[in-house]
Amino acid sequence: MLKVGVIGCGAIGIEICRAIDRGIVKAQLSAVHDRSIENCEGLLASLVNKPAILPPDEMISNADIIVECASAQAVREFGVNILEMGKDLMVLSAGAFRDSGLLERLTDTARAHHCRIYIPSGAIAGIDGLKSAAVAGINKVTLTTTKNPKGLKGAPFIEKNNINIDSYREKTLLFEGNADEAIAAFPANVNVAVSLSLAGIGIEKTHVRIFVDPGAKRNIHEVSVEGDFGKFTCRVENVPSPGNPRTSYLAALSAIATLKKITEPLQIGT
Ligand SMILES: NC(=O)c1ccc[n+]([C@@H]2O[C@H](COP(=O)([O-])OP(=O)(O)OC[C@H]3O[C@@H](n4cnc5c(N)ncnc54)[C@H](O)[C@@H]3O)[C@@H](O)[C@H]2O)c1
Repeated sequence: MLKVGVIGCGAIGIEICRAIDRGIVKAQLSAVHDRSIENCEGLLASLVNKPAILPPDEMISNADIIVECASAQAVREFGVNILEMGKDLMVLSAGAFRDSGLLERLTDTARAHHCRIYIPSGAIAGIDGLKSAAVAGINKVTLTTTKNPKGLKGAPFIEKNNINIDSYREKTLLFEGNADEAIAAFPANVNVAVSLSLAGIGIEKTHVRIFVDPGAKRNIHEVSVEGDFGKFTCRVENVPSPGNPRTSYLAALSAIATLKKITEPLQIGT
């Protein structure tokens, strides 16, 4: 049975561990790691089959695949080591790959050690269609994100521009730029901009718009793609994760679905 180690016992980590604990994913949760021991203990309290809480190296050597659901910093800290130890890596903090040097280093290491790197679709729909479309030509990819002020608080763009995010009374365009600029401005919010770029036409050409909407009860991500195949638009109205309003519930579900895909013989979708 696949042995899974999880780095990050926050909103996404909890959902992944519970899915394994409930048998939704046919795998064994071998160990977890978090820089906050309280978060590790809080997670374990919600599980029937409790994994070990281990320091990174021990956790990695005890698992077949490590799921990173912590931070871009954690990808930089542990990514190379995980792959050098011959383990597969799943990355939720896809924003880390804004640094193309890091992605290249990890991909080269994965190739040398016969491992795989998985980047789940996260909080968006349409990556399957985009991957198919990318086999031919793509002219345009746009991500339009709309969030409640609560989901955007603390972002560097808000702080740097002294924006009072609670002052908006109606839906307003806050930011427009390419995916590279978007992830710098809102690092904890638009990981999806980077996954979308990697699957499509790259970080410089992928266009991102971010709206703040005090009336929004959900995190809305709309992906529009135009190319040789024609065009499509996918809109997801995401329920925020109970543990973290910046994170959409679908992001955790996409990691669980990716684990299911790895562990099951039938593969559906691109
Ligand atoms: N791909 C997507 O669509 C998508 C969607 C939402 C969130 N995310 C990303 O996934 C990650 C997890 O999201 P979340 O909502 O569960 O966050 P969270 O804040 O609820 O939990 C993160 C946990 O990781 C721990 N952590 C952070 N950095 C660490 C490190 N270097 N070493 C050890 N532990 C560390 C924290 O202590 C915390 O317990 C974030 O980076 C977030 O930006 C991706």
